[in-house]
Amino acid sequence: MNILKKNASHPSEKKTEAASKGTKKKDASHYISAKESRAIARSNQKEVRALEKFRKRKNVPETEYLTQMRDKNNIVEFEDLHTYFFTDLGVSKAVNGVSFDVPKGKVVGIVGESGCGKSVTSMSLMQLVQAPQGQIVSGSIRFDLGDKAYDIAKMPRSAMSEIRGKQVAMIFQEPMTALNPVFTVGYQIDEVFFLRNKDMPKEEAKKRTIELLNLVGIAMPERVYRSYPHELSGGMRQRIVIAIALACDPKLIIADEPTTALDVTIQAQILELLREIRERLDSSIMLITHDLGVIAQMADYVVVMYAGRVVEKGTAHDIFKHPLHPYTIGLQKSKPVVNHEVDRLYSIEGSVPNPINMPSFCYFRDRCSRASEKCAGEYPAMIQVSETHSVACYLYGEEDK
Ligand SMILES: Nc1ncnc2c1ncn2[C@@H]1O[C@H](COP(=O)(O)OP(=O)(O)OP(=O)(O)O)[C@@H](O)[C@H]1O
Ligand code: SF4
Ligand SMILES: [Mg+2]
Repeated sequence: MNILKKNASHPSEKKTEAASKGTKKKDASHYISAKESRAIARSNQKEVRALEKFRKRKNVPETEYLTQMRDKNNIVEFEDLHTYFFTDLGVSKAVNGVSFDVPKGKVVGIVGESGCGKSVTSMSLMQLVQAPQGQIVSGSIRFDLGDKAYDIAKMPRSAMSEIRGKQVAMIFQEPMTALNPVFTVGYQIDEVFFLRNKDMPKEEAKKRTIELLNLVGIAMPERVYRSYPHELSGGMRQRIVIAIALACDPKLIIADEPTTALDVTIQAQILELLREIRERLDSSIMLITHDLGVIAQMADYVVVMYAGRVVEKGTAHDIFKHPLHPYTIGLQKSKPVVNHEVDRLYSIEGSVPNPINMPSFCYFRDRCSRASEKCAGEYPAMIQVSETHSVACYLYGEEDK
């Protein structure tokens, strides 16, 4: 899907070309004149209007976004997804051609440094990217509904109620932002049952809420049912958020840094809870984190993202035992190891490039100790090195298959 006509003359793109060729003014990537800024704003306005019009269409026949899964064992298939932010400084390519699958009943860990597009990828799946500046521009997000499959990238916003809260639920980093401080916990979980079935008797909803509170390991659920979020600890609140997510009976749970705001012991409890839930309910989980330790404990498959792209993907065994991409290797080296004393923890030098001015070559080149001449060429293609393991890096060629 490409909603926009290819517009090679976007002012920020021209700027990127000039910056990467180094032909224009010195440090062209950071300087923006008032004239350029106006040109960017005008161009953005045109593109955003077209994308918003597409998203706001009413009475769209289902056939327009019906699709087929490539593999029936997957719940979600991302294919060449591009999600951009149209800002006054230029187009920020937050997700720039992401492809990976989430198999049914499995945990897929998405890992990468801050700002590499993990959250925007998951927000695209929920169509919750901050509009109008944030837009899915092209690509597919195929979602399996059992008897049929939808391409979420093609769906109008009005149809998304079929997916959000019914098929997919989200658990965020900070539970307090997900809970409403003025309603009791019981009220907020009951609400989800009423959303799915507005004729459900109140007693039935309460009974199910109490069952869920038990399931997520809350002691004295009757009392917690009547509590307000501020009366509970951080770990308890995260359990409530998980209970709300489960009330939707989702096929897929997206957990975006679910333990980052919690201390280590509570973190371990919440991870244990997620593991139990996955086993009991057979849901798939997309687990987003920058903590490789969390991924190692939980994930069946791992997707490593860097600057809006997938640089390596494979089973947890592939990624942890045979990491290939210099970025993945660097991430692993920067992970503290128990009983292994070091003076200083390793860190990958440099920082993620500005998503507005991405180079045309490998985005990791300026930080990579193994870069060669070849790496100054086109962005490396994704090479499949085994049935489950792929990497985008010139160190590996077709012969590695
Ligand atoms: N509303 C927005 N407007 C402009 N740019 C945005 C917006 N939201 C996100 N971005 C940009 O998109 C890129 C990807 O952001 P994203 O939130 O997906 O990162 P992340 O991998 O989830 O990072 P973190 O680990 O810090 O949560 C970043 O460069 C960010 O600045
Ligand atoms: S393609 Fe080159 S620069 Fe990029 S990660 Fe591989 S070796 Fe490093
Ligand atoms: Mg994030």
